[in-house]
Amino acid sequence: MSEQTIDPRNFRRALSQFPTGVTVVTTLDAAGQPIGVTASSFNSVSVDPPLILWSVDKRAFSAEIFRTAAHFAVNVLADDQIPLSNRFAGRGEDKFKDMPWTPGLGGCPVFPGVAALFECRTWNVYDGGDHLIVVGEVAAYTHTCERAPLVFAQGSYAVATTHPALAVA
Ligand SMILES: Cc1cc2nc3c(=O)[nH]c(=O)nc-3n(C[C@H](O)[C@H](O)[C@H](O)COP(=O)(O)O)c2cc1C
Repeated sequence: MSEQTIDPRNFRRALSQFPTGVTVVTTLDAAGQPIGVTASSFNSVSVDPPLILWSVDKRAFSAEIFRTAAHFAVNVLADDQIPLSNRFAGRGEDKFKDMPWTPGLGGCPVFPGVAALFECRTWNVYDGGDHLIVVGEVAAYTHTCERAPLVFAQGSYAVATTHPALAVA
């Protein structure tokens, strides 16, 4: 196939055919204020050493903070945490207002009720076009099988259920 001109909107639509989970990635800024951003770009990289990645839009308010942060936490949201996802997908000063959280590794905010948590030391930050690719070394993690993960696919929130073709007759 020959190279094609990329229409950004159509390109995003094509990418949305790949379902992801939803995370809120958190850190502290230089003044110790909590910072968080909803991100579906989270993915695994390496088991030994344990590395994960996510990417942040260079135009995001928090991009420069994550570029220089020593630590960050990846809160993997459960399927009842759409309001949390929506809150941190906004741009604003008050994202943490009335939001329960506790400080984890490096003080990074950890939310109750998540499906999984990865507490990371920043391993490296790479240029990725209009995004920064942030790779973290996992220093601690937890997960629970009692909470189903929130899914994002085709531009909407979704839930993960067993495929009907696998249902036991
Ligand atoms: C489901 C979902 C996934 C998102 N994934 C990302 C992502 O991976 N990287 C990113 O930079 N922004 C992502 N966003 C958009 C950011 O959450 C949004 O731009 C946010 O306002 C950034 O916050 P900030 O400007 O305060 O840093 C996503 C939004 C939603 C709703």
